[in-house]
Amino acid sequence: LLERAELAPADPILGLTEAFNNDGRSDKVNLGVGVYLDEGGKVPLMEAVREAEQRIVAEAKPHAYLPIDGLPAFRDEIRKLVFGADAPVLERTATVQAVAGTGALKVGADFLRQLNPSATVLISDPSWENHRALFTRAGFKVDTYRYYDAESRGVDLEGMLADLRGAAEGTIVVLHPCCHNPTGYDLTPEQWDRVVEVVAERGLFAFVDMAYQGFAAGLAEDGALVGKFVQSGLPFIVGTSYSKTFGLYGQRIGSLSVVGASADEARRVLSQLKIVIRTNYSNPPAHGAKIVAGVLADPALRGVWEDELAKMRNRIALLRKDLVKGLEAQGVTDMGFIAEQRGMFSYSGLTTHQMVRLREEFGIYGTDAGRMCVAALNADNVGRVAKAIAAVRS
Ligand code: LMR
Repeated sequence: LLERAELAPADPILGLTEAFNNDGRSDKVNLGVGVYLDEGGKVPLMEAVREAEQRIVAEAKPHAYLPIDGLPAFRDEIRKLVFGADAPVLERTATVQAVAGTGALKVGADFLRQLNPSATVLISDPSWENHRALFTRAGFKVDTYRYYDAESRGVDLEGMLADLRGAAEGTIVVLHPCCHNPTGYDLTPEQWDRVVEVVAERGLFAFVDMAYQGFAAGLAEDGALVGKFVQSGLPFIVGTSYSKTFGLYGQRIGSLSVVGASADEARRVLSQLKIVIRTNYSNPPAHGAKIVAGVLADPALRGVWEDELAKMRNRIALLRKDLVKGLEAQGVTDMGFIAEQRGMFSYSGLTTHQMVRLREEFGIYGTDAGRMCVAALNADNVGRVAKAIAAVRS
């Protein structure tokens, strides 16, 4: 049997981290994976997280199972975060804890596949490298809608709307509400209104993948698309991740909320989500959920967290400017767009060949598609990165 297993290619994102870890060069830079690093090049332990964690440890509770759908306090808190406290929509919303954003996507995908196996899933062109693979593995046909316009360096909104209008009823549309991964180009609130209108008109089903809430403009601004779908009265799904916003990458903590038409529908949906979870991993891990719940439930800690999140967001914006300045100092004057993009990523416009050269000749790792995680830059490496980009472009 096992001789039938073929050697699969390395993962286009996490495979880069493997290669980076095996790279012996001391001046290497990992701009491959979406991870925020501080000035010292480390994943920061956020102050709010440290405090919440100390409280958990001080309680010295045993490590019992969580319920299938997760820690109740976590679910309560993130429902308020995503939809607003006391939002009437919560009555018709089923929420489960998820194994971070990827886990939320997979639970959502398996659930939807049971309900509509013949639906097509539309993802943006381009999209997060794992979207296509994940929905394909879940059994869906995956196609794309137009998104990135290389010429204008922005979103091809008319192309996107035309593709959504051309989609069959019941098509599942994966949307990035903020910090589009990989391009860093987002829709304006008015443009989102038009997307929601088309989703309603065409009877499409939106799957909002929100992994970076707070990294573009702020928690409320970045989460506004959820409010727009709630307003529309449409059923939809929103998956969240707290990997980036709480710096809890290794804790694998996120959520999945399915907004239905009624409380009864939400009850039935929740029962199905629980089957998906139980048959995949039984019930989720506890530690990250306790941390997030602990931070969000305490107004003082929540304030600390929001400040820290804002600092990360503002620092990324400065790093973008530093990179543009560094490039200009190297004679590269046509990459100012990096400062306009939002979130962790910059779609650099570099070719695969240039990205491979960056990696092989300079130890600077970004994805073959040209995506670089600007949140991993710092004062020490930004000049080197700029110089290397200038070299591979010349
Ligand atoms: C990324 O896009 O780099 C992150 O979302 C990490 C991942 O799992 O790919």
